[in-house]
Amino acid sequence: MRTPICGRLGCDLPIFAFSHCRDVVVEVTRAGGFGVLGASTVSPEQLEAELRWIDAHTDGKPYGVDVIIPVRYDEEAEKSLDDLEKLIPRSHRDFMESILSSKGVAPLPPDEHERVQREIVAGRGGMTPDGARRLLKVALAHPQVKLVVSALGPPPSDVVEELRARNIMIGALCGKADHVGRHIEAGVELIVAQGTEAGGHTGEIATMVLVPQVVRACGDRVAVLAAGGIATGEQILAAQALGAQGVWCGTVWLGTRESELDEFEKQAMFAARAEDTARRKARTGKTVRMLKSELSEAWERPGAPDYLPTPLQGILYNEAHARVVRSKRKDLYSFPAGQVIGMISEESSVRDVMYRLQLEYANAAERLANVASPSD
Ligand SMILES: Cc1cc2nc3c(=O)[nH]c(=O)nc-3n(C[C@H](O)[C@H](O)[C@H](O)COP(=O)(O)O)c2cc1C
Repeated sequence: MRTPICGRLGCDLPIFAFSHCRDVVVEVTRAGGFGVLGASTVSPEQLEAELRWIDAHTDGKPYGVDVIIPVRYDEEAEKSLDDLEKLIPRSHRDFMESILSSKGVAPLPPDEHERVQREIVAGRGGMTPDGARRLLKVALAHPQVKLVVSALGPPPSDVVEELRARNIMIGALCGKADHVGRHIEAGVELIVAQGTEAGGHTGEIATMVLVPQVVRACGDRVAVLAAGGIATGEQILAAQALGAQGVWCGTVWLGTRESELDEFEKQAMFAARAEDTARRKARTGKTVRMLKSELSEAWERPGAPDYLPTPLQGILYNEAHARVVRSKRKDLYSFPAGQVIGMISEESSVRDVMYRLQLEYANAAERLANVASPSD
């Protein structure tokens, strides 16, 4: 399974794990893969605490940080939460409230409401260029960080220079082969070709089509990882057959013991089939693949208000989401997840997933060798 990217980054296996949860990052890294912490939803202070914890539990092994440095963004995101709240039209609030109260979902108790508001404030700033730079400054003070990945566009030139000067590899997510040129020109050295099957912000082209296109567009200039729809060793082998040096997975970690989801949320994930996810704007105002629910679908119906721009839609949604989780309402629960959620039906540990991926990969490679040169 080992490819040159392993030597370049100092890991044993080309299995990259995207997660917002530090425990997943730690366990994948300890098991020989490469953990990447999603940092866009935390404050610089929280990120510092998370990275210290990862440093303390990974025996000096390298890991990565993923930030969202949007090329285009809404200046609104720099405003205070009070100002932003005022920008959410009453009609949108009433619409969200009408869905929740018609289903009997109680408001949050005051202390929880305050905690959710604090989280929204902490996470909001990370999605602006300045906010992302503040997060990067924290990440750069941690020498084990050997990869910084930018979602939603190539990183700006000052960021690229700073990362290069410290020999930190620069990666970027890419949903269209047409975008490869601008990533490479910007200085990106690792492209994550993310197909539409993926959980989170995702485009329209399937991994099976996207990866070979991106590999061709990259030539031997930069390495490519395949993302979207990968949760088994067979799929890793297939990604390598398409020309990827490794894989970048997000959904498969959601069902692990170490994941950030609580028991109710995990059960909702285990019950979901591949067709229960869809690309919807209800969560952030941008298209996110997530579990469909009555809440996400209500926003799609004729007569529903238009989606608000980021970050307003997210502020409105996050509080509603907290109410849904608190009242354990599976019918209203929507959280980012890719189509492979339909292949995950019970909890396991990150270590077990890493072991399973390698076993399946080895068996599939043996099967393929027999197909290529049958013994009889
Ligand atoms: C719950 C969840 C949250 C995600 N959040 C981000 C994010 O903040 N930044 C990012 O670059 N990618 C994010 N992604 C996408 C992952 O980086 C990755 O590309 C994707 O999960 C791969 O496809 P898969 O879900 O089929 O494994 C997220 C994915 C999931 C499942």
